[in-house]
Amino acid sequence: MGWDRHSVRKAVVPVAGHGTRFLPATKAVPKEMLPVVDKPAIQYVVEEIAAVGLTDVVMVTGRGKRAIEDHFDRAPELEEALEAKDDEGRLQLVRKPTGLVRPHFVRQGDALGLGHAILCAAEHVGDEPFAALLGDDLIDPRDPLLARMLEVRRERGGSVVALMEVDPEHVSLYGCAAVEATDQADVVRVTGLVEKPPKESAPSSLVVIGRYVLAPEVFDVLRETPPGRGGEIQLTDALQALARRDGAGGPVHGVVFRGRRYDTGDKLEYLTIVVRLACERDDIGPDFTKWLREYVGRTV
Ligand code: UTP
Repeated sequence: MGWDRHSVRKAVVPVAGHGTRFLPATKAVPKEMLPVVDKPAIQYVVEEIAAVGLTDVVMVTGRGKRAIEDHFDRAPELEEALEAKDDEGRLQLVRKPTGLVRPHFVRQGDALGLGHAILCAAEHVGDEPFAALLGDDLIDPRDPLLARMLEVRRERGGSVVALMEVDPEHVSLYGCAAVEATDQADVVRVTGLVEKPPKESAPSSLVVIGRYVLAPEVFDVLRETPPGRGGEIQLTDALQALARRDGAGGPVHGVVFRGRRYDTGDKLEYLTIVVRLACERDDIGPDFTKWLREYVGRTV
């Protein structure tokens, strides 16, 4: 099947945030480069994009984010040194990020919010729908979400967000959705969105997580969106405008995700994913699990 302007070919990954929740680690190192066991968080996200067949990726970066560009570039000196040692295993690890996708980089300048970061990719994306993935949000590769979102976009058009049920106590940390059921159990129609509502006025306990499939009209809406909460241009505000439309970027549907998702920008969640993935690894898993059992036995 050839490409038409309705198919999704490109992905946008905003990585320009300051990562203040993870200071001081993120003073000079981007939070997206923090290792999850032995691979930086951003590589998991790029592998997720490659797994659904998208190859054109634009990362929205800023000052202090050079390490991300270097990670997806060749490393000739390192590769030569590993070649000289016949270390084929490590050579593959060094080369893998370079072959996953075609990365492009645009700079955000000032970190004026997620909506503004997405808008910085407008020129590269053009008049096509696109996927957007937050660089610090990890979805377990065994729980495919993006493929399902692309399917919903093909079936229903408009824009698609990923939603997750959270404890009502935690709704105020996220963008929260008002929804209506559809004829598919995992798909809802989003009728409204509100950024970080107090729990008393939250429309549901379904919150937006870091995966989106957006119609290009979102750029026009973002250009008109004034700074909202915290003086930032919020993607949630733009999605709220699209949710009211039938056509021209709307409607907005939500795929309700029930799999494993981790916000690596949050210290506690970061630790849980590192421990979980380390336990599941064939190489270090058995020894690490043994140590962990003994440690928990001693301290609890
Ligand atoms: P977050 O709010 O989680 O990122 O934004 P942050 O601002 O870096 O984190 P804290 O709260 O200070 O710790 C979600 C995603 O949007 C990107 C971030 O890099 C992250 O991947 N982002 C956010 C931008 O690219 N630009 C912005 O202006 C804001």
